[in-house]
Amino acid sequence: MSKTKTHFGFQQIDSDDKREKVREVFDNVVEGYDLMNDLMSLGVHRIWKRVAAEMSEIRPDSYFLDLAGGTGDMISLMAPRLNHEGSAILSDINEKMLVTGRDKLIDSGINNFLAVQLDAQLIPFKQDSFDVISIAFGLRNVTDKKKALNSILYCLKPGGKLIVLEFSKPTNEIIREIYDFYSFEIIPKLGELVLSSEESYRYLAESIRMHPTQDELKELFENCGFENCNYENLTNGVVAIHTGTKPREP
Ligand SMILES: C[S@@+](CC[C@H](N)C(=O)[O-])C[C@H]1O[C@@H](n2cnc3c(N)ncnc32)[C@H](O)[C@@H]1O
Repeated sequence: MSKTKTHFGFQQIDSDDKREKVREVFDNVVEGYDLMNDLMSLGVHRIWKRVAAEMSEIRPDSYFLDLAGGTGDMISLMAPRLNHEGSAILSDINEKMLVTGRDKLIDSGINNFLAVQLDAQLIPFKQDSFDVISIAFGLRNVTDKKKALNSILYCLKPGGKLIVLEFSKPTNEIIREIYDFYSFEIIPKLGELVLSSEESYRYLAESIRMHPTQDELKELFENCGFENCNYENLTNGVVAIHTGTKPREP
């Protein structure tokens, strides 16, 4: 039987191998991950994450799950908004990223959250568990996006909201060309300079190019059964925030 294929950056690989390859990428960069985010985006990723947090409409008593949460930036914005009736979970498939995120949050005085190692494609929580689920710069790395969206839909409460913050397609042709040059020529060199990891940051550039466009991702949300599907471009579409809710009626 032939194996299903997927992409890992520009390479075609067996789907079964992607998880391991993505794990290697994040194992390689974990120590300088936050520094590289600040350098690559000149700190603007912090603003993108703040906008995503605002769009979540989280309430003090919300049950919140952050998927592919890495070093914990989304939890640091969301957990302080919760009271004792709410709940926040930092999750990631990669143990090193998760532990780094957990420790960073605790060191910064945030401790009203749980840390759980999990795959966004098979979320091990009961049906209708969460009011808000977010995934920031994570969906691109997941082998089967549809499977992840179905799993998210299952775990959201009826009326619950999904927020996906992800690199996307710049809307202006000139900005797209500058951004391409920056992604393929500058970012991998920066990765080499800071973390001796040119390859990991080349994967970043390639995976951004392979990710669905704004409209394609919105359609995928709709096909999976989300309603009120929308997106907002930030920084001319360099990133987009997609939102969708779980229907109240089955
Ligand atoms: C670019 S980082 C984003 C981290 C964080 N959300 C942020 O915005 O800084 C992508 C994260 O996705 C995680 N990841 C990749 N595949 C995953 C999967 N199938 N399920 C859960 N997490 C995954 C990686 O381990 C990594 O920590």
